[in-house]
Amino acid sequence: MEKREELYAGKAKSVFRTDDPDLFVLVFRDDTSAFDGEKMEQLARKGRVNNQFNAFIMEKLEAAGISTHFEGLLSANESLVKKLDMIPVECVVRNIAAGSLCRRLGVEEGKVLNPPTFELFLKNDALHDPMVNESLAITFGWATEQQLAAMKLLTFQVNDVLKALFDAAGMILVDYKLEFGIDASGQITLGDEFSPDGCRIWDKETRKKMDKDRFRQGLGSVIETYEEVGQRLGISFD
Ligand code: TMP
Repeated sequence: MEKREELYAGKAKSVFRTDDPDLFVLVFRDDTSAFDGEKMEQLARKGRVNNQFNAFIMEKLEAAGISTHFEGLLSANESLVKKLDMIPVECVVRNIAAGSLCRRLGVEEGKVLNPPTFELFLKNDALHDPMVNESLAITFGWATEQQLAAMKLLTFQVNDVLKALFDAAGMILVDYKLEFGIDASGQITLGDEFSPDGCRIWDKETRKKMDKDRFRQGLGSVIETYEEVGQRLGISFD
């Protein structure tokens, strides 16, 4: 496999073409963004930590029968992934109230959500990722009814696997965001990444925030805490 030219640079990762039209290289950079790109900083080692964190999680999900784009680690900050035709709608599951749910509905942070909630957001920084629903997604052609149903099912399957994984390591999976795409065979497949950048994780005992809220809220020790989450899960970072 040969890495070719850069196709696309997102806020935290870049996508490169390869000599295989069905495979891309994902490069995890140190760039860290919040509030739809309004707050931007470089955090040393973040690319490596998130790449290896994501690899560990994607392998756990694959082992549980969830189809992902992840093919393998290429280096400390690069992974090989399947090319997907991305669906521009983000799926968010919440087990505990935090973030925009508290702001929108006046719910107290920390309230247990039973059953967990499922929300859709349009991936669009200029519009600040507005909340949307299935009807809008279907009408505007972002996804079909069948694709939305598959995404919802997969997003909750991920919850079952990851809630248990974090719980066993003394942490709470508060909420998370997933992105899906369609692979060459037409199958809905988990894409993007799963790292502390796209979820909320709290320590079970102290409720210490161990995710990107440390960056958003200026709490410090961002990457050291991401590494602590990884180490508790059994990841040894290069
Ligand atoms: P929220 O509380 O800001 O709506 O976010 C819910 C979860 O989803 C939180 O873990 C952050 C994650 N998320 C992203 O990573 N990127 C996004 O664009 C959105 C809307 C949410």
